Amino acid sequence: MCGIFAYLNYNVNRERSYILQVLFNGLRRLEYRGYDSAGISIDSDFSSSCSPDAHQPSSNSSISPPPLVFRQEGNIESLVKSVYQEVAAIELNLEKSFTTHAGIAHTRWATHGEPAPRNSHPQTSGSGNDFLVVHNGVITNYEVLKETLVRHGFTFESETDTEVIPKLAKFVFDKANEEGDQTVTFSQVVFEVMRHLEGAYALIFKSRHYPDELIACKRGSPLLLGVKALNDDVCNGLAFHDAKFLSKNSNPKELFLSSDANAVIEHTKEVLVIEDGEVVHLKEGGVSILKFNNDKGRNGDSRSARPASVQRALSILEMEVEQINKGKYKHYMEKEIHEQPESLTTTMRGRLLRGGSCKAKTVLLGGLKDHLKTIRRSRRIVFIGCGTSYNAALAARPIVEELSGVPVTMEIASDLLDRQGPIYREDTAVFVSQSGETADTLLAMEYALENGALCVGITNTVGSVIARNTHCGVHINAGCEIGVASTKAYTSQIVVMAMLALAIGGDTISKQERREAIIDGLFDLPNKIREVLKLDEEMKDLAKLLIAEQSLLVFGRGYNYATALEGALKVKEVALMHSEGILAGEMKHGPLALVDENLPIVVIATRDACFSKQQSVIQQLRARKGRLIVLCSKGDAASVCPGGGCRVIEVPQVEDCLQPVVNIVPFQLLAYHLTVLRGYNVDQPRNLAKSVTTQ
Ligand code: F6R
Repeated sequence: MCGIFAYLNYNVNRERSYILQVLFNGLRRLEYRGYDSAGISIDSDFSSSCSPDAHQPSSNSSISPPPLVFRQEGNIESLVKSVYQEVAAIELNLEKSFTTHAGIAHTRWATHGEPAPRNSHPQTSGSGNDFLVVHNGVITNYEVLKETLVRHGFTFESETDTEVIPKLAKFVFDKANEEGDQTVTFSQVVFEVMRHLEGAYALIFKSRHYPDELIACKRGSPLLLGVKALNDDVCNGLAFHDAKFLSKNSNPKELFLSSDANAVIEHTKEVLVIEDGEVVHLKEGGVSILKFNNDKGRNGDSRSARPASVQRALSILEMEVEQINKGKYKHYMEKEIHEQPESLTTTMRGRLLRGGSCKAKTVLLGGLKDHLKTIRRSRRIVFIGCGTSYNAALAARPIVEELSGVPVTMEIASDLLDRQGPIYREDTAVFVSQSGETADTLLAMEYALENGALCVGITNTVGSVIARNTHCGVHINAGCEIGVASTKAYTSQIVVMAMLALAIGGDTISKQERREAIIDGLFDLPNKIREVLKLDEEMKDLAKLLIAEQSLLVFGRGYNYATALEGALKVKEVALMHSEGILAGEMKHGPLALVDENLPIVVIATRDACFSKQQSVIQQLRARKGRLIVLCSKGDAASVCPGGGCRVIEVPQVEDCLQPVVNIVPFQLLAYHLTVLRGYNVDQPRNLAKSVTTQ
């Protein structure tokens, strides 16, 4: 779970300071993917590409001086600072201009080896920096590869799994040269390396043997290429989307490789999403995409194999730079909480139909329409996800059961895999994931696919592995979520699953009234969220009151058991305060022992079928002098807390199945303010990263 980025300027002069800025900005955009260390590699002063005429087609004889590598523990700004210090120390000329230059960059969330410069990327093949690699993913067979490479005389300096990759590349390259193959190409080297790698990866290779070239490849982890043409006649009459545009030509251009679109959008909207098993070679102004296969070729290695080349057109990113800026907000989490009225509107856009008086209100989910019959006939629906995405599915479970009549079971992805729990051909497995790339959820998806279940993906990331590899699905369209703590994706996920329930439920007469009430409720939901966001100051006051607490309990049930879990998760992950969501029905079976006059407890008691039970929970907690904060529907303060004595937060009442969408907002605000008041980094919580692409 890291971010990788590369910038290649072709046939256009760029000063070293500019190249550094592009690399640093790329990393800043990817920082949410990991922020415990970072690194970059650029060319040194004596690169073969530093004069406009010096660009030569690469061959093994065109070796350039060792590229420079800078690596630093800590966040991107620590890297930036240390790079400028080092650059000054070695008197590197920042104004030096490069006609063509290939730079790579990485931001890390440590999996193998503590955050430290030696474990940061680019990882290198050794002292001459012959091959450099930035990696997102995990190489599962690195120990075996390391042993082999050590036997061949390589020494390792890091504890990372990644270090085997550049060393393997050097081994392959040297072997080819020893065997007299002076023409081995960069892509042949990478193909041979890929043949030995197991696990998940997106990789970018830079090599002094192939100056001004970059190679990227992927299996499992995300990667995209951005292409920016730098003059008007660059296309020579070809449309940008024409695959021929990618063929070699001398037109000036800038090429970007990135783990996600955030780092590319400020430069270009023209992108190619790289597929698993593809190898992208950037060379001499062209982009070739080769399909990796395990063929050994006639000489028993991939050097003699002939990989198929792939013709693909560029697509246009449907996003704006503003979406990834903080705008008027101090933090992404704050921005994302406050943009929920808009994100929910986008989630529902074009999917809810409320015709004239004679027209039924209905839901249209294009990505599911051909599969609804199969889902209705399923033996059960299994919701699978991790963390917040799991909680969103839990919030939606009752309405899916109610409207579809199909039993719904819940699975935390890692637990399903640990147990190898049964999944049948007759099941519909629904994978809920904001990123669409969470390792546990991906593996659970592969497991369900192997077992023959119909697999449905609910993700926020178009082109993600879950979006691509499930049979059908729905994008939540919440817009880019950058804050590590998920907020707007959670509410959009619930709304999508409520629409899923409506779609599966079909048009049974007996449930028509209920369905229409939900659809009306959905239409009005953004307004209700606007209303609940007005609690901001009140939640800040509550945060001031709780700032020094060690612990917070949250009791919920029914639709709002999920709210209790999710509310507690938000407080725990960003404010670093112990917090636990508890099913109120379980209170007497243990948790009651914790209750005293000191421990703050939030009870969710908004109006629904569980309301009277929650009133009784409140009474029992008060009888034990519990320090209560009650979340209730507007106007219910006296009913939930007769005689006063609890702090009450009133929220607008909506249709019961949509109430979790409203109820989570005060918790999001509380978690946000608690974190800021406690002085922690709200967008980059300790030890966490946005997408968890390792198990
Ligand atoms: C918490 C949070 C995580 C994610 C979880 C799954 O705020 O964001 O719990 O929900 O890591 O991630 P996705 O939804 O990307 O599969």
